[in-house]
Amino acid sequence: MEIRSFEDYQKAYNHSVEAPEEFWSNVARSFEWHKPAETILEWDFHKPEVRWFSGAQLNITENCLDRHLATRAEQTAIIWEPNDPQEAAQHISYQQLHSKVCKFANVLKQNGAEKGDRICIYMPMVPELAIAVLACARIGAIHSVVFAGFSSSALADRINDAKCKLVLTSDGSFRGSKVIDLKSIVDEGLQHCDCVEKVIVLARTHESIKMHPGRDLWWHEELAKAADDCAATVMEAEDMLFILYTSGSTGKPKGMVHTCGGYMVYTTYTFQTAFQYEPGDVYWCTADIGWITGHSYIVYGPLAAGATTVMFEGVPSYPDMGRFWEVVAKHKINIFYTAPTAIRALEKADISFVERHDLSSLKTLGTVGEPINEEAWHWYDENIGKGNCPIIDTWWQTETGGIMITPIAGITPLKPAFATLPLPGVQLALMDEQGQELTGDNIEGRLSIKFPWPSMARTIYGNHQRFKETYFSAYPGYYFTGDGCKRDADGYHRITGRVDDVIIVSGHNLGTAEIESAIDEHHKVVETAVVGYPHDIKGNAIYAYVIGKDDLGDEDQLRTEILRLVSDTIGPIAKPEKIQFVSGLPKTRSGKIMRRILRKIASGEIENLGDTSTLLDPAVVHSIQQGAL
Ligand code: PRX
Repeated sequence: MEIRSFEDYQKAYNHSVEAPEEFWSNVARSFEWHKPAETILEWDFHKPEVRWFSGAQLNITENCLDRHLATRAEQTAIIWEPNDPQEAAQHISYQQLHSKVCKFANVLKQNGAEKGDRICIYMPMVPELAIAVLACARIGAIHSVVFAGFSSSALADRINDAKCKLVLTSDGSFRGSKVIDLKSIVDEGLQHCDCVEKVIVLARTHESIKMHPGRDLWWHEELAKAADDCAATVMEAEDMLFILYTSGSTGKPKGMVHTCGGYMVYTTYTFQTAFQYEPGDVYWCTADIGWITGHSYIVYGPLAAGATTVMFEGVPSYPDMGRFWEVVAKHKINIFYTAPTAIRALEKADISFVERHDLSSLKTLGTVGEPINEEAWHWYDENIGKGNCPIIDTWWQTETGGIMITPIAGITPLKPAFATLPLPGVQLALMDEQGQELTGDNIEGRLSIKFPWPSMARTIYGNHQRFKETYFSAYPGYYFTGDGCKRDADGYHRITGRVDDVIIVSGHNLGTAEIESAIDEHHKVVETAVVGYPHDIKGNAIYAYVIGKDDLGDEDQLRTEILRLVSDTIGPIAKPEKIQFVSGLPKTRSGKIMRRILRKIASGEIENLGDTSTLLDPAVVHSIQQGAL
């Protein structure tokens, strides 16, 4: 049932709770399957195990491409807007996209890729990235897209964890006025990987690069040898579709595993429902395909829904702070989906950057990735939406695969900074500190989910135990999100931020443990504690407290070296904004760092630190307060 009114939403929601299997089997009917499901849902959150549409067979690319050829072969599937506005945009029809995906799928096959093989994709936002993702899915290979801002060592970790056989990359990438040498980052990373047999390299920047004989191949040369047709590999609904890494509060990034059937059904349904996409709408999500938002809401959801989806190679500030609005006007964007951090940065620029562009095509706005503050919400509403466009504040995660809490555009009454209500199929639970589910309205707790939804991650690649410990152990029988949440008197939800050691910086997840261990690698560093603190544009920024060895030498020099180390180990996004050298860290008698205290000091609340009586050495706090930056 399509949702066209708030009453429809309530009916659909109630149906999804009372008869979830019937609800989702109805939704699943609008897709093409080689074989229908025998069982809609099997689940046990204690194991945890979740299976949707067991017995069903499909290929997601037939749903994203082939089935549209009868009705919309000539419609634009992807509009690509390059980094440089002087370069021509591309309009790729469904027919053309189908051919390109099939041809590249053959390139993968001729280089030994088979169903179940893992393929790492480390590429800029060019059409070939979307084509590569779909080509993997076409032949049942599992893609692991790594955001092209990660360092060579972060890339190598991810390639090794998934034991990728192939790497797809480009010579370089254009990011604003910079040219980034992606291929040499790959070369450096691959010195630490034994599993990779071949690297296929797209010529994008045409810089001169080194090609390793026997390993590296040019994309265009391989394409020239490939056949045009490629039958889709028939997949089981629960076969793996992709792995995508996300940071956790401890240890290395987790390879979240998504499967074919449930992911397709849920991302498509939520795309159509939340945005109220209508045929002919031009939809632009500004995320990078290196993140889950790009997977679900640039590639799979929109294409399965037969939409026109925009891919943007550049950055919001190049050639000037009006670029987003210029692109909206140029491609007559109807639905625009971005991150609060971008809104806050653009809000700081002169308003003439907005005013000089015609934004009248816009009808719906969205946000994702972090809480949006009320000021940014109102600026977005008034200056971009001209008071006429609903803003859907969509809460979800890499792990959830698709949007979970959001207003439905034009239907759910809005409240600034509230993600409002769960979509059909999403059964939320707010838990108290003792692990009891809070009921009713006007409550605040830890956000959990008590019933499976089709696109939930099934495991962490190669580590099911960690999956269980991270998500299903805090509250047995519930999936725990790691976020805090308020439910107000109207039953509306407002996400209050992470309650664990994950920091969301400019909408990107970073684990404190990962950054700390990167800094600890420096030979002059003894120990580090990293916390987040509120930042005007980034939402949160990183504050590192570093215990150095006796002889620190030049502190500024050491700071520069630490920043370089973090950049080389993880990527520039993980660099601390502030580094304070300290002589000790506030630890409890059992040796646990009291991060609560460090967070307060980092956020400028130098006094009123609360109870410090359990500290081993309260004098440490005094000296940290004195040196606070
Ligand atoms: O803390 C929440 C925040 O982003 C986290 C998930 O990050 P990631 O897996 O990278 O996925 C981001 C894109 C879906 C969440 O645990 N978050 C995401 N959306 C919102 C949000 N916080 C508040 N409001 C949102 N709309």
